[in-house]
Amino acid sequence: MGGKIFLNHEKFKIINNDIFLTDEISKESVDLIVTSPPYNLDIKYNSHNDQISYEDYLKFSHKWLSRCFEWLKEDGRLCLNIPLDKNKGGQQSVGADITTIAKKIGFNYHSTIIWNEGNISRRTAWGSWLSASAPYVIAPVELIIVLYKTRWKKDEKKQSDITREEFMEWTNGLWNFPGQNKKGAGGHPAAFPVELPRRCIKLFSFVGDVVLDPFLGSGSTIMAAVNNNRKGIGVEVDKEYCEIAKKRILEETKILNNESASILIEVNKECQKIQKKQINQTSS
Ligand SMILES: C[S@@+](CC[C@H](N)C(=O)[O-])C[C@H]1O[C@@H](n2cnc3c(N)ncnc32)[C@H](O)[C@@H]1O
Repeated sequence: MGGKIFLNHEKFKIINNDIFLTDEISKESVDLIVTSPPYNLDIKYNSHNDQISYEDYLKFSHKWLSRCFEWLKEDGRLCLNIPLDKNKGGQQSVGADITTIAKKIGFNYHSTIIWNEGNISRRTAWGSWLSASAPYVIAPVELIIVLYKTRWKKDEKKQSDITREEFMEWTNGLWNFPGQNKKGAGGHPAAFPVELPRRCIKLFSFVGDVVLDPFLGSGSTIMAAVNNNRKGIGVEVDKEYCEIAKKRILEETKILNNESASILIEVNKECQKIQKKQINQTSS
């Protein structure tokens, strides 16, 4: 167990820990979770094995979804970005299977948003070419499954900041915007574009709400949260990815414009601590 706070700021918090071990997030404290877990597609993450059996992947999904369930408030929501299906190493109905697991845990199903990222490069396997023998059908889309804990309708009269145009466009559950490349995500191998959490946050949470990403990666969800006046919390097992997230959040959010001085002091303090530690290690 343990905390392992990587960076704590009044507007966001990065926890460098395993989501199964952290005790840094209180039960029933989160309004909205926006996340994309590892897809088990053999992505070369620094600190996570992304190639396990499908059975083990479903057990992993059950475990982390259970933690999220505990962290959500009664009217809390979860926007879960996952693949529709899996074509490599045997066909699997990933979206349907994970939704079933979430419902067994206690989540209620609300809807599914289809995200068309226009990724035609995924089209590599055709199965039996021009033959009905065994063709492959691949939909170049991902899902954002929208779930909630106990009740969908929120009682509180808090502030919404979504515009008329955004509301009209985003409540149509077919979203079209491009995916995120590795370079633009500071080198993280599997980031989603900030546009994804931005839409989820503005559509499904109020100004001032607490937004969590238990698989923070390069920090996209916190960036969207901070830029839209929500409090962002992220958990990431890999320290290097926490560094990437910190850099992106500081460079690409409004925090730097408004509060550069205080945040940089905090960052500098951290750097000094690390330098001191290194000097002590080399001299002993
Ligand atoms: C698909 S990526 C998330 C990318 C993120 N949405 C972004 O935009 O950068 C999944 C992340 O989960 C992290 N991860 C895997 N297992 C974890 C665990 N048990 N606890 C915390 N983080 C974990 C990986 O290191 C990886 O960065």
